[in-house]
Amino acid sequence: MKNTAVTLIQQKQAGEKILMLTAYDYTTACIEDECGVNSILVGDSLGMVMLGYENTLPVTMEDMIHHTRAVSRGAKNAFVVADMPFMSYQTSVYDAVVNAGRLIKEGGAHAVKLEGGAEVCDQIKAIVDSSIPVVAHLGLTPQSVNAFGGFKVQGKTFEKAKKLLSDAYKIQDAGACAVVLECVPAKLASLITEKLFIPTIGIGAGDGCDGQVLVYQDMLGLTQGHTPKLAKKFADAGALFRQGITDYINSVRDGAFPTEEHSFKIDDDIIEKLK
Ligand code: KIV
Repeated sequence: MKNTAVTLIQQKQAGEKILMLTAYDYTTACIEDECGVNSILVGDSLGMVMLGYENTLPVTMEDMIHHTRAVSRGAKNAFVVADMPFMSYQTSVYDAVVNAGRLIKEGGAHAVKLEGGAEVCDQIKAIVDSSIPVVAHLGLTPQSVNAFGGFKVQGKTFEKAKKLLSDAYKIQDAGACAVVLECVPAKLASLITEKLFIPTIGIGAGDGCDGQVLVYQDMLGLTQGHTPKLAKKFADAGALFRQGITDYINSVRDGAFPTEEHSFKIDDDIIEKLK
């Protein structure tokens, strides 16, 4: 079944968990789609996990379009959401619509995601008015890492929790079709989930959200260095990669690979004539 902005809302209404994972390339998108995720997020986290930057701030529209195109070709049923990179929508409502349009037209995404609450509602409304579904992103919004002073849990005081709830209502009123809640205390995320009619998709926001999202490198054990607390390691693909690559190196060195099985034949006569 094809997943859309409408089916995500229907899943919330039916109490069915929404399954989202990040992907940044064709092969991973094919596997996730085949496994049955509802939505694939081409996150600007690609800046860190694919391009090796320290944070998401250097990611460009060109980076996002390039990776979104690859994912869109692999996603047959999943709802593809592309992140709007830093400074592609904060600058003006006009820039927001033009850049959201590029992610749909050139990238093949079905929706865009942007970070922020009240301050980006004009952008959300204008993009939605252009018939592009928007997923909002509240809580720890990584593009604000410098303003937050680091990657920290958000909404822990009464005032901050109140602002988060108010932002959630505002992005819903502006027309967002779903909202990612990142690093928000579980009870606050549950309350927001109860109050909104659009689905909440949590990452480090407890089990009370309508769905969950993780960066796939984190949940498959491929992340270099520290894996964030919010991510559970569901498999150790990193160990599998290392084992396979080490076996390859040893086999080539020892002459155990390639064998006849992996080679192509030619008539001996031809070789003789060439000598
Ligand atoms: O960029 C990303 O991968 C994200 C998720 C962490 C939600 O925004």
